[in-house]
Amino acid sequence: MFVKSCANNPYVEMMYSEFKCWAYDESASQFRGHWREKVFQSSKDICLDLEIGTGNGTHFAHRAQSHPDRLLVGMELKYKTLVQSIRRSLRAGCENSRMVRGKAEDISQLFAHDEINHVFIYFPDPWPKKKQHKNRLIQAPFVNELHTLMQTGSFVDFKTDDKSYFDWALKVFRHGPFTLIHVSEDLHRSFYKEKNFVTQFESLFLKKGQPIYHCRLLKEE
Ligand SMILES: C[S@@+](CC[C@H](N)C(=O)[O-])C[C@H]1O[C@@H](n2cnc3c(N)ncnc32)[C@H](O)[C@@H]1O
Repeated sequence: MFVKSCANNPYVEMMYSEFKCWAYDESASQFRGHWREKVFQSSKDICLDLEIGTGNGTHFAHRAQSHPDRLLVGMELKYKTLVQSIRRSLRAGCENSRMVRGKAEDISQLFAHDEINHVFIYFPDPWPKKKQHKNRLIQAPFVNELHTLMQTGSFVDFKTDDKSYFDWALKVFRHGPFTLIHVSEDLHRSFYKEKNFVTQFESLFLKKGQPIYHCRLLKEE
């Protein structure tokens, strides 16, 4: 289930006042299967993308701005980064994006089968200790769910700085329903570098000289 609100957090207040038309809590489940029409007042053939764990929203705002012909929903656990994300997007003049405060693991409560197009998962929490691995977002049931919710021909883009998490994720992906169409152990030395947008966390890792691990998965059928 969704996480409960916390008191004394100014970002909670902002989410429910200034940004109430742009950011939702668990009540967003009412839009399940109808995001395009009910939230964006757009037609059913417009593409609807999803970013999981937007952080401060640099990629979220960039994506919304650079793809005005598509719709974008972001999911974030923290109120502060949720507000930063939607504020950044609105300041860039975008009205094609919305944020949801919730856990990505609850994605099936928000979206129906075949409702989502592309999915971006950039630098999810790595949970490095062995006893924490169960907390990692990339798990077989989650990946199967994501596949069901996405439309054929859409992709999942995944980046991490954590080699152990990358190996873990690749193993899950290779045994799952998607087709792996790109794998790189050093994104910034691959042909994807040119079209890659450097996120906030990515820039921190790049400054430390760390390689960025990247893969892209396609929903073929
Ligand atoms: C390491 S940060 C990366 C942020 C951003 N993607 C970037 O590359 O700069 C991970 C983000 O995911 C969010 N997050 C962690 N677990 C989550 C979950 N289960 N569902 C949704 N968001 C989550 C965190 O609050 C945090 O903002």
